[in-house]
Amino acid sequence: MAYKIAIIVGSLREGSINRKVARSICALRNDNLDCSMIEIGDLPLYNQDHDANPPEQYVRFRRQIAEADGVLFVSPEYNRGIPGVLKNAIDIGSRPYGQSVFDKKPAAIVTASPGSIGGFGANHQIRQAAVFLNMPVMQQPEAYLGHVTDDAFDESGCLKEGPLKGLIEVLAHAFAGWVDTILRSRQLLAEDSAHAALEKQKEPAL
Ligand SMILES: Cc1cc2nc3c(=O)[nH]c(=O)nc-3n(C[C@H](O)[C@H](O)[C@H](O)COP(=O)(O)O)c2cc1C
Repeated sequence: MAYKIAIIVGSLREGSINRKVARSICALRNDNLDCSMIEIGDLPLYNQDHDANPPEQYVRFRRQIAEADGVLFVSPEYNRGIPGVLKNAIDIGSRPYGQSVFDKKPAAIVTASPGSIGGFGANHQIRQAAVFLNMPVMQQPEAYLGHVTDDAFDESGCLKEGPLKGLIEVLAHAFAGWVDTILRSRQLLAEDSAHAALEKQKEPAL
């Protein structure tokens, strides 16, 4: 069974290298992941006043995340942190209070940059928000993709054969395993407690 993965790209730029990395992950022949990129460029800025009567874009975004088995963040770093558009999307998905669509969703984080530290700062700010949002975040392999330029991609906008593509394949494989581990353990725990409750009912009343 393929897990449904919502990919959120933290760049709105048409030629975005991060979008191309995300596209490359979608294009991998990985039978365990069914990836789709979720639009965030149309989301109005988060405003708590909208909690009672949300704009249709918030509703659409929240539904798409809610329907996913896992979330993959693929983002650039802006000024050593999370791009505003991505933080806006995270805030929208996290509210209204108590109804976060990110709750318990397994997640992974990829950051790519032409710079040498591969968006490390943004990667960890995303991780910080994800941890707070109760998302089990895959810890290894980490993916700070440095020195990524347009040369890394072919004319279809996917990664050319090479070490970077190899790294992405390893990451996608690990993420499929991570989502599987989290979701199956949760199911086993639920079955175990349901079984324990049934057994308890069978115990003779003292
Ligand atoms: C507002 C802004 C801030 C940036 N800050 C950083 C930064 O802190 N670290 C970094 O590695 N690159 C930084 N960059 C360069 C981006 O990594 C580069 O533009 C990258 O291609 C953006 O990702 P994208 O191609 O997916 O849009 C910044 C770019 C912009 C536009």
